[in-house]
Amino acid sequence: MKALILVGGYGTRLRPLTLTKPKSLIEFCNKPIVVHQIEALVDAGVNHIILAVCYQADQLEDELKIYEKKLGIKISISSEIKEPLGTAGAIAQAKKFLLPAPNCNKPFFVLNSDIICNFPFKEMIVFHENHGKEGTLVVTKVDEPSKYGVVVYSAEKGGEVERFTEKPKIFVSNKINAGLYILSPSFLSRIKPIKTSIEKDVFPYMADEGQLFALDLKGYWMDVGQPKDFLTGMCMYMDFIVKKQNKGINDVKNGIIAPVIIDETADIGNDCIIGPNVVIGKNCRIEEGVRLKNTILMPGAKIGQHSWLDHCIIGWNSDIGKWVRIENVSVLGENVEIKDEIYVNGGKILPHKAISTSIREPQIVL
Ligand code: GDD
Ligand code: MG
Repeated sequence: MKALILVGGYGTRLRPLTLTKPKSLIEFCNKPIVVHQIEALVDAGVNHIILAVCYQADQLEDELKIYEKKLGIKISISSEIKEPLGTAGAIAQAKKFLLPAPNCNKPFFVLNSDIICNFPFKEMIVFHENHGKEGTLVVTKVDEPSKYGVVVYSAEKGGEVERFTEKPKIFVSNKINAGLYILSPSFLSRIKPIKTSIEKDVFPYMADEGQLFALDLKGYWMDVGQPKDFLTGMCMYMDFIVKKQNKGINDVKNGIIAPVIIDETADIGNDCIIGPNVVIGKNCRIEEGVRLKNTILMPGAKIGQHSWLDHCIIGWNSDIGKWVRIENVSVLGENVEIKDEIYVNGGKILPHKAISTSIREPQIVL
């Protein structure tokens, strides 16, 4: 079976992290977001994954080719060369990979690359076969539906979608498009490799024709394409997945408050208090007396003595001095240096910067 992952888009809302790494390769709980997806797809029987890419294609190809061998699958890259073609155009661009063999009507998956949940791929296959129409999308419930594609569907009619509205200004429903689809090959004749959006230019029409069905997602879900949501998604993953595995790790005497994920190569000094909701990546170094909560340290980050971090994402190889305080959804890009005794409140700091004066109000530091 085949799956296409939409890994294009510039990931602007996840800057400064996406200034040096494509969004889908950013480590979510110590594993690239897209690898969480690929592993779940393979588990559901997918053996060919197509990445629809429009920039940083080389970096993606290099990193993901490793998984071809590791997982025994095929990974193809479909590039949009001149400009991003939007979510529908990008699928059309990849038609040559998606077209089935003659007399084969096997559906394929399509995924947004910034989604984290308990991927219900097996359930999607069964649901899609049962209704027999052209498309199935997964829906979930959120508090702020205006940021998403809103779906109105009928439970009595087995989930038939009546209306699909992308980012409506006025409230329609709190059930939204979770960014996971399974589509039959006939879908491909609806789209062309020109700039078009599946959410605006295709789904509303499929709904009008009774060709689109909605499957309700069970469990947690998050679009982790923005820093605040990335941290919320991390907390959800901790709650649903890591808490169970962490049984016995809650070691308050040694300063660990579960749930946490700590890479085995990380070096942690004495008298630290770490957790809850902390992810520490490969080769991180944490000196004595550090306090971390609700925070993600990307590989190679270093935290100096007695620093205190809450609700932060610290980029790769960044170096935080001693007695530093960072909080309030601060995001440091790759290789940022924060000098001793500095305070950072909600700062978004671009890669390779050195910060020697405190940032007292939320702002972007260029
Ligand atoms: N190849 C390619 N080309 N990929 C693209 C392009 C493009 O031109 N534009 C966007 N993408 C990819 C993004 O990388 C992402 O994985 C996915 O398509 C969706 O784009 P986002 O920019 O993240 O959209 P969104 O979060 O505002 O809204 C989408 O996701 C919501 C769920 O999180 C929509 O699908 C909504 O309907 C949905 O509710
Ligand atoms: Mg998104």
